[in-house]
Amino acid sequence: MNADSFQVFINYLSDELKSINDAFAFVGIYLISRKLLTSALVLSDFTKTYIISRVGSRDIAKLYGGKWAVVTGSSDGIGKAYAEQLALRGMNLVLISRDANKLQNTAIQINERFGVQVDFIALTFDGDETKYTELKEELDSKDIAILVNNVGVMYDYPQYFLDVSVEKLWQMVNVNIAATTMMTHIVLPQMVERGKGAIVNIAAGSCSRPTPQLAVYAATKAYIDLFSRSLQYEYSSRGITVQCLMPFYVGARMQRFNRAWRSPSSFIPSAERYARHAVQTLGYSQRTNGYWLHTIQGWIAHILPEWLWVSGANRLNNALRRQAQERVRRNH
Ligand SMILES: NC(=O)c1ccc[n+]([C@@H]2O[C@H](COP(=O)([O-])OP(=O)(O)OC[C@H]3O[C@@H](n4cnc5c(N)ncnc54)[C@H](OP(=O)(O)O)[C@@H]3O)[C@@H](O)[C@H]2O)c1
Repeated sequence: MNADSFQVFINYLSDELKSINDAFAFVGIYLISRKLLTSALVLSDFTKTYIISRVGSRDIAKLYGGKWAVVTGSSDGIGKAYAEQLALRGMNLVLISRDANKLQNTAIQINERFGVQVDFIALTFDGDETKYTELKEELDSKDIAILVNNVGVMYDYPQYFLDVSVEKLWQMVNVNIAATTMMTHIVLPQMVERGKGAIVNIAAGSCSRPTPQLAVYAATKAYIDLFSRSLQYEYSSRGITVQCLMPFYVGARMQRFNRAWRSPSSFIPSAERYARHAVQTLGYSQRTNGYWLHTIQGWIAHILPEWLWVSGANRLNNALRRQAQERVRRNH
């Protein structure tokens, strides 16, 4: 190779390198812009959900087209606390849970505190389809503006799939999946007819990713998440708001295997604190953790690689399982 052709080769190489450089710069700019845009959208969603939602007050009965709200699983925990928040906003309530005495006490308390009308229906959600026909007849006599599908059951404590009783597996399918689906099927027609209404479905933040030792619970909550999102697309043009709430740990009875639930903290709020925050987000976000610190937890969960998330969940669930099994052994 003589000096001239060497120079030509060098020029060619530097042109090629410049093109590669330009291509990398282009990809870099694209990726950075995408990240910036996503972060801006996430921040604006956060601001809308947790800050703008707190400005001023709304007449939710007028907004959602009726004076009545139905809350399932409302004798305890998040359901009861959410019902109280709706009562505070002037909504009459239909409470649905298993235990008639507990329901009656809750109904009296709410009526005395907030002066709203409170009816209750004692019912166990199970595989019996006829119950839904009877429920429909009762609920069709009222203008239901808001349905809160809160009822849910979980394992007694985190366990491997084959260690969970068959009875518990059916309970999770019948309560977490079937009750939410059928309650929506009962109440949605009258909302669609009025062209207004809100359905709030409670999933779980910790189950937005694969969660070993809570496999079936997590999968039933993933159903709630997808069901809500699809339904929102189907019915938003008919005036219906569908919201999916995805709390992380809340200090409620469901977490009784976990000592932490007895002492609520910033990250494990009491059911009352959680509901106070969550109810404000209705109409501002279709899919939210419902409590700002849980949303930050959600961001962290989202960016972790799956192996790290699964390893953390496994460690936590191993510890919770051992604690719970030890307690069961001591009590026998
Ligand atoms: N607590 C948490 O950390 C957490 C986190 C994420 C998501 N969630 C979700 O939030 C929702 C509420 O949880 P929670 O912790 O507040 O629950 P909870 O304290 O255990 O209360 C559950 C409510 O549902 C009723 N219930 C249970 N099984 C029923 C059945 N088969 N038929 C009718 N009613 C039934 C219970 O009343 P009776 O026993 O009197 O019937 C009670 O009122 C659930 O969907 C749960 O999956 C909870």
